[in-house]
Amino acid sequence: MIERSTEVTITVNGEVVTQRVEARQHLVDFLREELQLTGSHVGCEHGVCGACTLRVEGRIVRGCLMLAAQADGLRVETIEGLAESGEIADLQAAFLERNALQCGYCTPGMLLTAAELLATRPCPSRAEIRAYLSGNYCRCTGYQAIVDAIAAVAARRQGRLT
Ligand code: FES
Ligand code: FES
Repeated sequence: MIERSTEVTITVNGEVVTQRVEARQHLVDFLREELQLTGSHVGCEHGVCGACTLRVEGRIVRGCLMLAAQADGLRVETIEGLAESGEIADLQAAFLERNALQCGYCTPGMLLTAAELLATRPCPSRAEIRAYLSGNYCRCTGYQAIVDAIAAVAARRQGRLT
């Protein structure tokens, strides 16, 4: 007989969760529907828009392309976890200051991607910021204000006033 569900143990935002999941359930759906972590959004559902961006074992991934079952034994962080830890407080403030969001649908994914960019490349050029964000779509802002916000945070973290 084919098993249609499996038990997983996933560390989500520092808390260990053990639960049965449907074999076909995507990680972002598991987080949203079973754990009520609705900060990660679902847009295209095929890996294009970046709305579902999550961090798994320290790297950003598409939550719509990964099954919950594949996250068994792994560490997953969502926008809620990053926001609560204070890790992205300066990015959140800069997005507000610069009007880098309108509807906000893309914003959690943008913030996770920006956090990874600044962790790996603390002083990116505007072109590098745009390239890193190329997998995150925004229907509202035209991207300029998002790039401004990330560039401002990079400069502040380097001790330069903007
Ligand atoms: S919903 Fe996952 S990339 Fe669009
Ligand atoms: S703010 Fe609406 S999609 Fe980016």
